[in-house]
Amino acid sequence: MNKLMKHFTSVKDVHDLPLLLGKAHAHKHNPFQFRETGKNKTLGLIFLNPSLRTRLSTQKAAMNLGMQVMVMNMDKEGWALELQDGAVMNGTTVEHIKDAAAVMGQYCDVIGLRSFAALKNRVEDNAELLLNQLKKYAQVPVISLESATLHPLQSLADMITITEHWKRSSPPKVVLSWAPHVKPLPQAVANSFAEWAIHSKLNLVITHPEGMELDEQFSKGATITNNQQEALQGADFVYVKNWSSYHDYGKLCSPKENWLLTPEQLTLTNEAHIMHCLPVRRNVELSDALLDSSRSLIQQQAANRVVAAQTVLHELIQRTHE
Ligand code: CP
Repeated sequence: MNKLMKHFTSVKDVHDLPLLLGKAHAHKHNPFQFRETGKNKTLGLIFLNPSLRTRLSTQKAAMNLGMQVMVMNMDKEGWALELQDGAVMNGTTVEHIKDAAAVMGQYCDVIGLRSFAALKNRVEDNAELLLNQLKKYAQVPVISLESATLHPLQSLADMITITEHWKRSSPPKVVLSWAPHVKPLPQAVANSFAEWAIHSKLNLVITHPEGMELDEQFSKGATITNNQQEALQGADFVYVKNWSSYHDYGKLCSPKENWLLTPEQLTLTNEAHIMHCLPVRRNVELSDALLDSSRSLIQQQAANRVVAAQTVLHELIQRTHE
């Protein structure tokens, strides 16, 4: 029997990834086949941080399924939320998540939440308190639209994209390569990509400067090296991404070596495809030459964000029929 997901906040919520990827393929090739399934169902999207792709692709996915969508920029338009159970709310917080989540759960059949890492306190970010309290109190399925530690909709879109561009039976060599940036970014995309790639049994190599190790709970099972040249040898896909330090939490790294991927380095690879989740700082994280080359899959990844969101929403709204 097809076991349906309860929430979608990590690859651990997926019971059968190859099956989910097969369903994604079906959604992509016939996007309106389930347009009646979402009729009279409402998706609520709660954003505490900016977004282009997640916001639009998830709305489009819901519309393809016939759902209604409500979007709220909670950081600007909502009350300041208290997350701690039992708190005496005599400070700056105005509404408890227990109340807000229960209310939203009455208005929505599925709720999506974007809540980035604050990058100030590793323990607090790892606890994912807002996401977990929402799951606890909303009484409806919750989708992560990127949490403090993970970005599963992006990773599902990335796995769909890799599957579409890899037709051999042996797993591809996929390199997750750290890139420079002007400001510290969360580890969520990198953590999540690692988790999904390992779960998909891809041959994953992570390369980064010293001190930029990811949290082992997500990267365990990958080959890890500080030697970018070595990592790139024979790669079939190179996923480029910046992330800030996990161990020296939230700090920006400025390595002596040049970590900006060059067209010359790509000659080491097996004519690798280049991937990036976007938004990308052109000519800081990745050059125009690579982003605009025929090897770049950035637009295919963005297109597959709709497919990923539609596949997940379809699973979750079937559950609300039970
Ligand atoms: N890749 C991604 O999540 O893009 P947005 O931050 O624009 O949603």
